[in-house]
Amino acid sequence: MAHLFEEITINGMRLRNRSVRSATWTGLGTRDGRCTEKLIMLLEALARGEVGLIITGFAYVMPNGQALPRQLSICDDAAIPGLQTLTQRVHAAHGKIAMQIVHAGVQTTVTETEEMPTWGPSAVHDRSYEQTPKAMTQKEIKETVRAFARAAGRVKQAGFDAVQLHGAHGFLISQFLSPFRNKRKDRYGGPIENRARFLFEIYRAVRKTVGKHFPVLIKLNAADFVRGGLHQHDALFVAKRLDEMGIDAIEISGGVPAAESRGPARPKIRKMEDEAYFLPMAKKIKKQVSVPIILVGGIRSLTMANRILETGAVDLVSMARPLIREPNLFKRWKDGAQKKASCISCNQCFGAADSPEGVHCVIERRAKARKRK
Ligand SMILES: Cc1cc2nc3c(=O)[nH]c(=O)nc-3n(C[C@H](O)[C@H](O)[C@H](O)COP(=O)(O)O)c2cc1C
Ligand code: SF4
Repeated sequence: MAHLFEEITINGMRLRNRSVRSATWTGLGTRDGRCTEKLIMLLEALARGEVGLIITGFAYVMPNGQALPRQLSICDDAAIPGLQTLTQRVHAAHGKIAMQIVHAGVQTTVTETEEMPTWGPSAVHDRSYEQTPKAMTQKEIKETVRAFARAAGRVKQAGFDAVQLHGAHGFLISQFLSPFRNKRKDRYGGPIENRARFLFEIYRAVRKTVGKHFPVLIKLNAADFVRGGLHQHDALFVAKRLDEMGIDAIEISGGVPAAESRGPARPKIRKMEDEAYFLPMAKKIKKQVSVPIILVGGIRSLTMANRILETGAVDLVSMARPLIREPNLFKRWKDGAQKKASCISCNQCFGAADSPEGVHCVIERRAKARKRK
């Protein structure tokens, strides 16, 4: 069975090891979502830190699909030149990079105005975001599918190695999948075959645009962890269908904002037993598909990463918060300093991403400031 520092090839994309930097919003884009030098430097550091595959923070495919401030945009061709510089610099540092693309649906803190209402599968009030989306018409659904496909075309043109659809964490694709958010009575609502139709149409349109030799990945919730949300058996159905349709890798995550401590970025990972909290679900999915499975969520030690890989439970391991604190974590492990990640899973880096400086580890910065005194 594989170990962390073993190569893997995904639809022609050769990765130097089995590590992934899971998509992380950095707050380092410009106000209109363009790439900046600071963002490039952060991603170059990850490439130098020998991450196998770096996934950018989510980039919005339509103006009303933006989730957070200074998030990257992939809405128009003007985004391409800046992103080309980014991919060239990451490649020069021997890294591989994918872009994650998203429509936020109701989960936006920035775009809601009278001219641009938030969209969702149904007009179900969202208590976490304190707003009610407009139920999308079938015309708006088609428009969004096309926007995803055009965005994926730009990702390829900008020189990325792969594209990842954000189908997790309560954003628009995940809203359609969830029976709690999706109360539609048409062909996009009801049984999972219908709730997944939006995602399947996006996947087909994206594949048509980028061609069969360009890796298309997805981040998918194994469950929403809220009453009435996406259940494991529906996630399994979606994963199996995507596998049959030709998706190149599935990253298993879980949770939505309302799930709180059972959300995607769980706090208090102290012991080995707290690590890899979506592993049981990922294992079930892995058993029923042939596509590579990536696992994210609370992986903190080399022992756990290798145990997961060596038992064949999944094919790649993915991390977000540990790499905010230590961009060179994987290189450090490879070079023999195998202490577990120093991230304490306090989640203060979310607030930091919303600051003018962009994402950083608050704990690390405090420790450095104390040392200087
Ligand atoms: C600051 C921050 C930004 C994040 N941005 C994204 C994002 O853009 N897309 C995404 O799918 N997940 C995002 N996540 C979630 C992570 O990718 C990951 O799923 C989660 O943090 C659990 O992994 P970890 O325990 O290794 O941090 C973000 C997490 C953090 C801490
Ligand atoms: S602020 Fe630092 S220690 Fe806390 S979760 Fe983020 S990276 Fe980890």
